Amino acid sequence: MRVLLLGGGGREHALALGLAADSSVEALIAAPGNPGIGGVAELCQVDLTDPAGVAGLAVEAGVDLVVIGPEGPLVAGVADAVRAKGIAVFGPSAEAARLEGSKTFAKDVMTAAGVPTARAFTCTDPEDTAKALDEFGPPYVVKNDGLAAGKGVVVTDDRAAALAHAAECGRVVVEEYLAGPEVSLFVVTDGEAAVPLLPAQDFKRVGDGDAGPNTGGMGAYAPLPWAPPGLVDEVMADVVHPTLAELRRRGTPFAGLLYVGLAITATGPRVIEFNARFGDPETQVVLALLETPLAGLLHAAATGTLAAHPPLRWRDGAAVTVVVAAENYPGTPRTGDVITGAERPGVIHAGTARRATDGALLSTGGRVLCGTATGPTLAAARDAAYELVRGIGLAGSHHRTDIAAAAVEGQITIPD
Ligand code: AMP
Ligand code: GLY
Repeated sequence: MRVLLLGGGGREHALALGLAADSSVEALIAAPGNPGIGGVAELCQVDLTDPAGVAGLAVEAGVDLVVIGPEGPLVAGVADAVRAKGIAVFGPSAEAARLEGSKTFAKDVMTAAGVPTARAFTCTDPEDTAKALDEFGPPYVVKNDGLAAGKGVVVTDDRAAALAHAAECGRVVVEEYLAGPEVSLFVVTDGEAAVPLLPAQDFKRVGDGDAGPNTGGMGAYAPLPWAPPGLVDEVMADVVHPTLAELRRRGTPFAGLLYVGLAITATGPRVIEFNARFGDPETQVVLALLETPLAGLLHAAATGTLAAHPPLRWRDGAAVTVVVAAENYPGTPRTGDVITGAERPGVIHAGTARRATDGALLSTGGRVLCGTATGPTLAAARDAAYELVRGIGLAGSHHRTDIAAAAVEGQITIPD
């Protein structure tokens, strides 16, 4: 089949590697892609938030499947426009993507479906916000109601800082703090049948020991040696199937990738958030372990035939990815620096570009690259990922040094 992949970050580089490795894929086109993706796909340009433009490109390129990486195009209705042309698309409709695009909508669906999550209030003025903060007490959790690229959430003991974030956002969701280790579970679904991928954990804070502000994600590993047995089955039964059923009931079935962000609390798994797409950087580790051909799986979800898809096959061992971020990220990142040591297998590109004059690789964004490696054990995968990172040269860059460390040392516990 011919496949068009939308996006140009690390997640899409990992998706591109998976799609290109599927022998059923005879052509892979990516828009806009990045220099890493350019190694396995033909790159072209299109405005990702222009549904008609993307649908036109899909028709012109004669593709059989469009895979949408980021949330922007989903919320803009790109999947709807492509589907309307009769082309299979992996990614939910704009209506169903509101599960990610609006925290209030997601809470509403969870309440209707009886899904375990944090208690929450939507607030639009300072008085309501203050009341909600005091109802729950510290640590305070304040979320921008709309899309915020992983950076709209403030978790703090500082009541004034919580109020200030709310004032900046306008409309916010204030919610109860959920204590416990976090899990990202990706579920491939055609709206009815649903297939979980391996659970992963990402690292949202910028600094070692979870210090500093939230980011888009600084590293990840899979699988989770500390996860309670039966966790995935429990989440499928208590979260995923009720949520998919509620969206079918509303006439807006969710087909694509349902990303369930969970806290494993003393009283069981609780949903922190839903996303309507693969997570970044968890995709890098989950797909590194997936043996089943990726395009076939995504095509089955896109065409409503997932129930007939064979069970997934996974490689033994573990995978770890470590993000190399530009100086000052998650603030305004320093860009335009030459990167060295990136041309090695396992180096995933995110914010990179080629300099026109000499082809040198330049940094163009906050999260620039990641080093992704597998190994027979989590410890071995972790060592190999850091070995890749040590080989990358980028002035001013930084990375966390503790990705997967607590899991390797058996130090992750669920509160009792
Ligand atoms: P979100 O954008 O909703 O994923 O939030 C980003 C990060 O903030 C999450 O990965 C958590 O680390 C943290 N967070 C969000 N909501 C809560 C909550 N209710 N309790 C504890 N931590 C939270
Ligand atoms: N890894 C967090 C996200 O993709 O939102």
